[in-house]
Amino acid sequence: MKDAPTPKRSPERPLARGDESDARLKIVIVGHVDHGKSTLVGRLLNDTGTLPEGKVQAIQAMCERRGMPFEWAFVMDAFQAERDQAVTIDAAHIWFNSARRGYVIVDAPGHREFVKNMVSGAASCDAALLVVDAAEGVQEQTRRHAYLLHLFGIAQVVVAVNKMDVVDFDRKRFAAVERDIRRYLGQIEIEPSRVVPVSARDGDNIAQPSSRSPWYKGPGVVEALDEFAAPRRLTDLPLRMAVQDVYHFDDRRIVAGRIESGRLEVGDTLLFSPSNKTVQLSGIEIWNTSRPLLQAEAGQSVGLALDQQIFVERGELISHAERPPVETNVFRGHLFWLGREPLAVGRRYKLKLNTLEVPVEVQSIDRVIDVDDLTLKEGAESDGAAIVERNGIAEVVMRSQAMLALDAFSDNPQIGRFVLVDGYDIAGGGIVNMRGYPDQRQLITARSTNIQAVGHAVDHRARTRRNRHGGGVIWFTGLSGSGKSTLAIQAEQRLFQQGYQVYVLDGDNVRGGLNANLGFSPDDRAENIRRVGEVAALFADAGFVVLSALISPYRSDRERARAAVDRLDQSSFHEIYIKAPLEVCEQRDPKGLYRKARAGEIADFTGISAPYEPPETPQLEIDTAEKSVEECLAALVDYIERTFSLAD
Ligand code: ADX
Repeated sequence: MKDAPTPKRSPERPLARGDESDARLKIVIVGHVDHGKSTLVGRLLNDTGTLPEGKVQAIQAMCERRGMPFEWAFVMDAFQAERDQAVTIDAAHIWFNSARRGYVIVDAPGHREFVKNMVSGAASCDAALLVVDAAEGVQEQTRRHAYLLHLFGIAQVVVAVNKMDVVDFDRKRFAAVERDIRRYLGQIEIEPSRVVPVSARDGDNIAQPSSRSPWYKGPGVVEALDEFAAPRRLTDLPLRMAVQDVYHFDDRRIVAGRIESGRLEVGDTLLFSPSNKTVQLSGIEIWNTSRPLLQAEAGQSVGLALDQQIFVERGELISHAERPPVETNVFRGHLFWLGREPLAVGRRYKLKLNTLEVPVEVQSIDRVIDVDDLTLKEGAESDGAAIVERNGIAEVVMRSQAMLALDAFSDNPQIGRFVLVDGYDIAGGGIVNMRGYPDQRQLITARSTNIQAVGHAVDHRARTRRNRHGGGVIWFTGLSGSGKSTLAIQAEQRLFQQGYQVYVLDGDNVRGGLNANLGFSPDDRAENIRRVGEVAALFADAGFVVLSALISPYRSDRERARAAVDRLDQSSFHEIYIKAPLEVCEQRDPKGLYRKARAGEIADFTGISAPYEPPETPQLEIDTAEKSVEECLAALVDYIERTFSLAD
């Protein structure tokens, strides 16, 4: 063993303590149990000068007495033993200081505790250090631990490739491990800021650069941690306050609640979501004093006096208009299930989200992870699972009737957390993740003012009489490659020959013009569908039978397209599910896009890395995997004729 460097000690710091930790960057260390986490922690404590004078020497002496080799992990053990006797056990964490700032190592004695702590909010981490053994490389357990980081939205990650001494600081070996871990992390949407070759045992590239890795030009572990963004203070986040109660005094109303993040000031314009009302703040009151406040911030419970008497309810979220929360009726929950009854697709629970309580339905269970060994349940990844047993961790999509105002946990850990109640029991808890789902706020906010619609002098009856059929929208939805365009184009030709006013609005076509400025992010797709829905409604109002062929993966977007058509007179909207299993579409792969998506060359690809929500009650379902094109076409044309032609 090389001698431990004896850096300058930071003055008068106890070993462990719970105060001040808010200002410190919280990191969790994860990785395979044998890959050297404790050694690394011991080293970090020593090489940053956190250990008290003589600590290492005492442990070395003890090792000699017992005739066993010194291990840095003993430092960590001794530290822990000492900590357990400390008064502030609950809040205690292991901490160290770099030259730049303070750190807390959030203790994750086992992943079960880690998961519970994250879900309940007992611990939240700003960043993570993932340890991988250079000789053994990325193991299954490495992947599972890394997956927890994804589950809890920890995006700032440094990887330490440890035990480089065992592989003689071989550059090629390091490059191979780095490639492997980056590839896996990429699959779970994590891009490590640094991958550092280290020997925790010998202290290479921890706090000091190593002469044994001259080919490595990046920073050591401590410096790499120092590159992480500063911990976010709750007061620096956008304003969020959930309405707890509304009190009536004479003709005044006071909105009471706790400011969860950000600040507010008398005179501010406040936005209430999801009602989307705005109002000016005329006064701030707190309970134990008669002196009114002019400002208040995160952590304070306040009563807000408003300049107008608007109707707001418990559960609404207050923000400033410029930095509002997301509005959605569907979200992804990363949850820990405690219910006696398993969580199941189609079941309803009471969602508690801040002060809001609403029913939600489980739309899908995308992944189930066994909490004991963190394995993904068989088949869970591709097909979705039907249930989550007690103590299971899962990625679940939930849907509510009403619009919800929320933030993703990664944007605001105070707001993006929820509890599910089954009957009267708390049955699960988790964090909100909006990956793959759009913010629907833009879509429901009308900005036009002072407009007056004009009526047409030609009404729909005249158009119908002349065309000899009504107008309406046949809205195809389905995966890429399911056959939407093929069927739409052939149906268009056939119907045209029969004298129909018919037109296809195809996703790939409108994306060349009207929607050329839109990509495939959830928000862009939602806007894509909104525009095509409005255009289809106009065509239908003009008397056409519109065949729209877009993936349109989100139920809420399709519902909005339906509403756009319903808004106009007599036209009608028909949702047609062009059904083919993902495997079949992938095999067909008419444009070669699935292959590219699997190779990671296309991001957010529907069915692979972006969600598809099949219709619940489509007017017609066409199974293109089971039936020939001709059969599908016949069923489709028959449906259209029955729906639109004049019965005379
Ligand atoms: S939608 O999701 O917004 O409804 P749309 O139907 O307009 O999609 O466009 C889908 C077509 O764009 C696909 O048929 C495919 O050719 C192409 N495409 C390109 N990138 C993607 C992607 N990431 N996901 C799905 N389709 C994509």
